[in-house]
Order: sequence, then C-alpha cells, then structure tokens
Amino acid sequence: MFSFKPRRVCSHPALDQLLVSPAMMVDPYPIYRQLRDEAPVFWSDQWKAWVVSRFDDVAVSLKDKENLSNENRQGLLFAGLTDDERQQLCPLRHYFAQKDVIGSDPPDHTRMRALVQKAFTPKTINALEPRIRELAESMIAPAVASGRFDFIHDVAHPLPVVLIAEMLGAPAADRHLFKKWSSDILGFQGTGRTTFGPAMISQTSLVAMFTYMNALIDARRAQPQDDLITALALAEEGGKGFSRDELLATCNTILTAGHETTTNLIGSLVHLLLTHPEQWAALKANPALIHPAIEEALRYEAPKQRNFRRVKKTHTFNGVEFAENEMVFQVIGAANRDPANVENPESFEIRRTKIDHLSFGYGMHFCVGAPLARMEARVVLETLIKHLPDARLVPGSMAWQERVQFRGPGRLVLERAG
Ligand code: HEM
Repeated sequence: MFSFKPRRVCSHPALDQLLVSPAMMVDPYPIYRQLRDEAPVFWSDQWKAWVVSRFDDVAVSLKDKENLSNENRQGLLFAGLTDDERQQLCPLRHYFAQKDVIGSDPPDHTRMRALVQKAFTPKTINALEPRIRELAESMIAPAVASGRFDFIHDVAHPLPVVLIAEMLGAPAADRHLFKKWSSDILGFQGTGRTTFGPAMISQTSLVAMFTYMNALIDARRAQPQDDLITALALAEEGGKGFSRDELLATCNTILTAGHETTTNLIGSLVHLLLTHPEQWAALKANPALIHPAIEEALRYEAPKQRNFRRVKKTHTFNGVEFAENEMVFQVIGAANRDPANVENPESFEIRRTKIDHLSFGYGMHFCVGAPLARMEARVVLETLIKHLPDARLVPGSMAWQERVQFRGPGRLVLERAG
C-alpha cells in the first residue's frame, strides 16, 4: 500500500492551476510551452505528480526501466481521494494492481510482451486490411449518402472498437458493450484529476467486462477458435503462459489502449487535413503523402497526450529528487512540439523531411498496436477520399473531447463541398 501524504511544494502554482483548467482540453499547447520553458521538471499539486515535458527528458524517462516502473502505476491515480472513497473503489484498485503486459516490469513484462507479440505479428496484422476496408466502406458510404454526418460518431469511434471486439472474438451482438466499457474505463483516467464519480463508473464497467471476458476465455479454452483470446489463452513463452488475472488485465489493456487512441488519431488526421486545404489537395494528388500525413498527425496531436510511471527507486532526474512511489507524467503532447527537436513545431506540415515523435512511447513498452493503428488510419483516409474527395468541415462543428490524457475531436461534422 502506498503512502499518499503530499510531500512536495509546488514551485509554480499559477502554472499548476492551468493544468486543470478548461484550456487544457481546448488548446494545451501554450501551457506545454510554458512547462518546457519555465518548469521542465515540475511538481504538480494538481496532478499529484512530477511533470516532464521536454522531448529528450520524456524519451529518457519513457526508456528508464531502472528507476521507473509500470507496476501498479495506476494505484497512484487514487492519491487525491478520501479513505472512504478509496475503500469503495477496492475492486477497481484491485484490478489495477494486477500485472499485465503494460502494467509490468521485466521479467514479467518480457514474458507477457513476447506472448502478445505472437498474436500481433506483421502477418496477422496485414491480414486484417481487407476487413478494415470492409468496415470503413460499411460506415463511410452510407454516412456520405446521408449528407452531413459526424465523422467521429459514424466512423472514427466505432471502427476501432468493432475491429478490436472482432479480433478478441466477441460475438457481433455484444460489440456495443465494448464501446461502452472502453469509454467508461478510460473516463476515469482521462481527466486531469481523479474524481470519485468517474472512477465508480469505471469500476462498474471494468467488473462487467472482466466477468464477460472470464466466460469468453473459458469458452475458448474448451473450444479454441481463430481469434485473439484463443491465441493469448493458449500462447506460451518458455513453457509459461498468462495467469488468468494477467490475461484478463491484458485483454482490458488491448481494448482500452487500442480504441480511443486510434479514434483520436483518425479524427485528428481528418481534422488537420481539412483545416489545411493546400496539404489536403496535395495528398489527394499524391497518395505517397498519406504515410507522412499520419506520422505528422501523430506528432502534432499526440492521441495519448500524457503517459505515466511510478518511481521505483528514489533517484535524481535533471537535478531533482524523485522519491519512491511518486508518480511521473511524461507529457508526450509537449515533447512532440519541443523546438529543440523539431523545426517550426507549431505548424502541421506533411512534407517535413523528418518526422520524429513519441506518440507510441519509447523503449520496452513501445506500442504493440502501432502498425495496426497506422493501417486503420490509412485505410479510413483512403476510403474517405474515395467516397468524399471534396469533403468539407461544417464550420463550427468541431469540438474537442473533454479529456486531458487523450486528445482528439469528439465531434467533426463533414459534408460535400459546394
Ligand atoms: C494511435 C493509436 C495508438 C497510440 C497513440 C498508442 C499509444 C501507446 C503508448 C504511448 C504506449 C506506451 C505506454 C507506456 O510506455 O507505458 C502504448 C503501449 C501499448 N499499446 Fe498502444 N497506442 C495506440 C494503438 C494501439 C492499438 C490499436 C493496440 C492494440 C490493439 C495497442 C496496444 C498497446 C499495448 C498492448 C501496449 C503495451 C505494450 C507494452 O507494454 O509492452 N495500442 N500504446
């Protein structure tokens, strides 16, 4: 059990307030600039954590497996709650204390990562392309035919979740449940501060999802099928597979890690292209620009803005002491726009000669789903261009999601230009 006593003094209270202000949802980048310039390694009373924002520091921090840990890092998110609230959230805290592929350190991480990678081979991922295209067609063609449509509601949100539910092997009739679970579970982590209400919603959905997954795992163990649950349940590494708790937690990670982030990437990509008409026209004339456009969208609007670690050992980082069991937030959204690493960081430019970003993480926890997410973004963009080459964003229709940890449009209404 961690001690949650505040032990730090915030050096910049005004900046700290900005981290939990509405501006963080709409345009966090001026705040990030201030962090990088004035307080690159900063204790936040609001986030109850260290905040690291420069590109090099975030990269070093993401890679640091000696001093930082992913094990039970989520436990630290409950620091600001009362004892009574924490008590009521026992089931949620229990599940977050389980190790899984993302919530573990070596040697457990090495074993689980190898198990997951067996199910995410380039061959398996490439084989999904026709299905992704089919899904994109089935969502985009009717939406375009209907006239004006919300691209997030009709395409960017459902497509990744249907795909993941299918990959995991959930029956089609149950796929709507995955959509609800994944947004409820992340709702609690996505806010700047942990509050009790969203945490309770997260707990209810997490318990429901684990109950469902437990039954699905039993069914697949008894009768193996050609799906991810079967592959994970039967995979072994050095004679050892997942324990049941590890498997359940890993299924949760795959669902939540692969859903909202991909929705955000697809939404931001389309938003950025439609608000940069000259680049949109250039890309349609030259499909070779699709790949760099996806990378630039990843850099410019990191779908996961904020990553975090638990301090495993007290150590000094850039002259500042990080104490055991403190939390460190690595602000990927700030790192990606660090002028020390990229020229004109605040401009979206798909023809950059070099596009460097940390949006999929760095080091041993580098995103397993990166090739899948890139493929989904490409296929959706190709399908949109096929059906709506003269797409136009309805003025005033775009709204950002109300999240701090994740960033992407929550609403994006498109129509045919002219
Ligand atoms: C644009 C979309 C995506 C973004 C921005 C993203 C971002 C990230 C980041 C930043 C990490 C590193 C976390 C850390 O260091 O603690 C990560 C890890 C991970 N991601 Fe993704 N992700 C995306 C899509 C996906 C998809 C589609 C899947 C699977 C279906 C997925 C599965 C995972 C898994 C399993 C890990 C843990 C890897 C490990 O710990 O070894 N992600 N992702």
